[in-house]
Amino acid sequence: MYSQITGIGSYLPGPPVANDELARRGIDTSDEWIASRTGIRFRHLAENGETSSDLALHASRQALAAAGCAASAIDLIIVATSTPDFIFPSTACLLQAKLGNQGATAFDVQAVCSGFVYALTVADKFIRSGSHRRALVVGAEVFSHILDWSDRTTCVLFGDGAGAVVLEASDKPGILASTLHADGAHHAILSVPGSVCKGVVTGDPFLRMDGQAVFKFAVRVLAEAADECCRIAAVSPSTIDWLIPHQANVRILEATARKMRIPLDKVVISVDRHGNTSAASVPLALDEAVRAGRIRSGQRIMLEGVGGGFTWGAVLLDI
Ligand code: UT7
Repeated sequence: MYSQITGIGSYLPGPPVANDELARRGIDTSDEWIASRTGIRFRHLAENGETSSDLALHASRQALAAAGCAASAIDLIIVATSTPDFIFPSTACLLQAKLGNQGATAFDVQAVCSGFVYALTVADKFIRSGSHRRALVVGAEVFSHILDWSDRTTCVLFGDGAGAVVLEASDKPGILASTLHADGAHHAILSVPGSVCKGVVTGDPFLRMDGQAVFKFAVRVLAEAADECCRIAAVSPSTIDWLIPHQANVRILEATARKMRIPLDKVVISVDRHGNTSAASVPLALDEAVRAGRIRSGQRIMLEGVGGGFTWGAVLLDI
């Protein structure tokens, strides 16, 4: 028993917001600085009342339509998010209600920017165990709601969005291999170190990051995870048609491709138009590349995540 992606969808809220627009809104930055350091030119920002489950709903409906699958036929819903609508219930349960699905197993996965790769791996294991047949796996984030808009070192980097896939039981792969890792010793280099206690926010409720430490960590573990995944599947990295790493910074993508000896034209890049959308970035990039006709049926893809925790991982699949 294997699992296979049968439908993909995504959603970006509102119009694209250009780097210059951020400078016009009073942030001490420039298009030149953001574009040259990160490759980011645009991002999409959700309205104040717009939540991760709202974005997830649009992406999920597209993925279900692409799979020709009714919401009622889904028996597993996993939402990867670090910006849930509520402390509880889970965003997966809220999405389930919005989709009109009843009875499916539903829960969130919290692995920050590795969230989608974690969630897809968990869903694959559920399906391969035989306990579930049809999963909806979503990455959805509204990071704009947890940014300190007076901190130019972080607020220009992130955007909002959602991506979703339908993953179904199949007698051929599908997902060939996956690997997940974490090292909590590095929790402080990327975190939102706050919480709510007795109705009061304690600590700091905004995203904080040591950008250079994150950069170095990301380049190292993305290349290692991809190599490990190829070893598990017993395939050569040269058989990969498309590499889709987490979209945080185009320089990280270039360095990862260099380390893996994969030409840059095999790397899907969407960070220029989406910014860093955390758990949504990989399925957003995947959906765009499929809809643009770049990724085609029968091709081999490596998906990769890296983010707060620290967490990282990779999934190798034939589409
Ligand atoms: O999902 C994973 C999450 N994050 C990442 O993957 C991010 C990884 N890290 C990075 O992408 C890069 O480290 C950054 C893009 C965040 C920063 O680039 P950098 O080349 O490491 O810049 P820096 O932090 O060393 O800052 C250089 C200068 C500083 O000025 P001084 O001290 O040299 O005068 C900053 O104050 O750039 C300044 N700066 C800015 N200037 C204009 C920082 N942010 C901005 C800004 N606009 N938005």
